[in-house]
Amino acid sequence: MDTGLVAGQMHIDGDELRSKYLKFFAERGHAVIPSASVIPENDPSVLFTTAGMHPLVPYLMGKAHPAGARLVDVQKCVRTNDIEEVGDSTHLTFFEMLGNWSLGDYFKEESITWSWEFLTSAEWLGIPKERIAVSCFAGGLGVERDEVSYQVWRKLGVPDERIAFLGIDDNWWATGDEGPCGPDTEIFYDTVGQPCKNGPACKPGCDCKRWVEIWNNVFMAYSRQAGQVLDLPKRNVDTGMGLERTLAVLSGVETVYETSSFRPIVEALIAKSKYTEAEIRATPDLLRALRVVSDHLRTSVFIIGDERGTAPSNQGAGYVLRRLIRRAIRFCDTLGIPAEAWVATHQVVIGLFANAYPELRQNAERIAHELGVEHARFDQALKTGIRLLSKDIEDLKAAGSAVLSGESAFKLYDTYGFPIEFTVELVAEQGFSVDMEGYERRFAEHREASKTEAAKSGLADLSDESVRYHTATHLLHAALRNILGPHVFQKGSNITQERMRFDFSHPAPMSKEEVAAVEAWVQKAIDAKLPVTSESMSLNEAQNSGAIGLFSDKYDSQVSVYKIGDLSMELCGGPHVANTMEIGKFKIAKEQSSSAGVRRIRAVIS
Ligand code: SER
Repeated sequence: MDTGLVAGQMHIDGDELRSKYLKFFAERGHAVIPSASVIPENDPSVLFTTAGMHPLVPYLMGKAHPAGARLVDVQKCVRTNDIEEVGDSTHLTFFEMLGNWSLGDYFKEESITWSWEFLTSAEWLGIPKERIAVSCFAGGLGVERDEVSYQVWRKLGVPDERIAFLGIDDNWWATGDEGPCGPDTEIFYDTVGQPCKNGPACKPGCDCKRWVEIWNNVFMAYSRQAGQVLDLPKRNVDTGMGLERTLAVLSGVETVYETSSFRPIVEALIAKSKYTEAEIRATPDLLRALRVVSDHLRTSVFIIGDERGTAPSNQGAGYVLRRLIRRAIRFCDTLGIPAEAWVATHQVVIGLFANAYPELRQNAERIAHELGVEHARFDQALKTGIRLLSKDIEDLKAAGSAVLSGESAFKLYDTYGFPIEFTVELVAEQGFSVDMEGYERRFAEHREASKTEAAKSGLADLSDESVRYHTATHLLHAALRNILGPHVFQKGSNITQERMRFDFSHPAPMSKEEVAAVEAWVQKAIDAKLPVTSESMSLNEAQNSGAIGLFSDKYDSQVSVYKIGDLSMELCGGPHVANTMEIGKFKIAKEQSSSAGVRRIRAVIS
C-alpha cells in the first residue's frame, strides 16, 4: 500500500532542495564539499558508497578534514541489497543524501535545533510543526538513554506524544560491525495526521504506514572494534536526509516516483509503453515494473556516468550494474517498452541531473555506449539462453523434479550471461527453484580455473575490461602490420583493466602521422562492428591458413585461431569479446622505444 502524503503543497524540485540545504548550513559555518564518487576510492570492502558518511569515515575517526570541522554535502548513494523491494513506494537503488557534519565541533543541541529550523521555518521548508515526530535512543550497548536529545526536542515544542524512545535496532547507527557509530535521533513526517488503531502508542516505530523517516541525526561519539564500543577521540555529528523522500513530503505526492526527481523519467517511459498510465496504475504488476525500470535506469546512468564510472561486467560493481540493466530490460518487456527506448531515455536522466552532477553530461557518450552494448549482449544471450532454459525445464518436468541443477544455472550465467537472480526469478515463475549450493560450488571452481587461464593469456585478470583490451591488441597488431609493413610482429603484451602495453618489432620511432593512421585503422575496425570468432585446428592448418602467432612453441599441436572479420587472424587462447563494437574508443597514449629494434605502444580504451 502506498502512503498518502498529504500536507506538502510546495512546488520544489531537486535543484532547489539541494541549494536550500547547502545554503542553510553554509550560512551556519559549514564548508560545502562535493559529492564523492559513487564507487568508493579507497575501500575495496564495499562496491558502492551507501551513505553520506561513508567517504568521511577517516575524518569521523579523527583525521583532520582539509575543509574544516563543519561540512555540508549532497552525496550520491547506491544501495542494492534490497533490490527486490524496489517497486514499492519508497525503496530506491540510487538516492541522494543531504548531510551536514560536525567533526568534533557542535553536538546534539545545535544539530537538532538546526534540523528543526530548516524543516519548519517558513523561510526554509515550512513543514507544519504538528506533522513532525521524532525518536530518541532508549539506551543500550553500555550507552545511556539519550535524555539530552529528548530535552532539546521538548524545548523546541515537540510534545511527548510525538517523541518515541527506541532501542538499538532503531536508534543506533553503524556502517558495519566495525567503525564509527552512535545513537541517533530520527525525524519523521506524519503522512496521515491521526493515530492508527494503536491509539496513543502510534508513534515513530509503530508499524503502520503513518510515519516516513526523512532525516537521521547520528551522534557519532563511538567506534566499534572487535565487538567493543569505545569512545572516539571527538564527538561528531553525522546527519542524513533522503532527498527523494523529502521531495515527496514537500510536494504532497504519494511516492518518490511522483516527485520531480522521477516524474520526467517515468513519463518518458510511459510514452514508450504499450499501456496507458491509467492502465499501468490499475495493475499492480505493471506499476511495479514501471518503478523498477525507472529506478534502475537512474542508477545505471549514475554508475556508468560517475567520475570513477564502471562498465557492466561479471564481477564487483560491474556485475551489479549488469544485473540492474538486465533486470530493467526484462521489466521493459512486461510493459511493452522496447529496450532501445529504455536505453534512449538515459538522456532524460542526464538532463534532469546534469546541473547538480555535470559528470553525467561529460560522460554522456560512455553512458549511451555501455547501455547499448549491454542491451545487445543481453539480447543475444536471452535468445539462446531462454531456449536452453525451456529445454531444461521440460527435462525437469519429465523427470518430476522441481529444482534446476547448479550446473544448468551456472551454464546460463557463464555462457549466456544470465545473472543468477534472473534465472531464479525466471524459473520461479514456473514454480521451480534453483540448487543454489550446487551453483555456488560451480562458481567457485570456475573462479579458480579463470585465474589460471588469465595467467596463461597475459591478462591481469578476466574482467570484461581486460578482455576488451585483449581483442584490441589483436586489432593493433593487424593495424601495425598494415600501416608499417609485414616485418611487424608482436614481441610481448601486458594487459590490465586500465590499459594495454604492446611491444613489436620495428626499427625506428613511428611518426605522428603513422601513430594517427594506426589509431584510425583500429577505430574503423571497432566501428565496423566485426564479429570475433574462434576455431580449433592443427598447428599446421593454422600456419597454412595465414594465421599469425608469435609464441608458436608455446602451443599444443591443436591450436585455436581467433578471427576478427577478415582483418585479423591470430593463434590465441582467448578470451575475446564477441564483437569489436564492445571495445569502444581506442587511443594510443604513447609510442616509445622498448629495446633494440623493438617499439612499445601504450594504449587505452574508453
Ligand atoms: N549515517 C546516517 C544514515 O545513513 C546518517 O547520515 O542514515
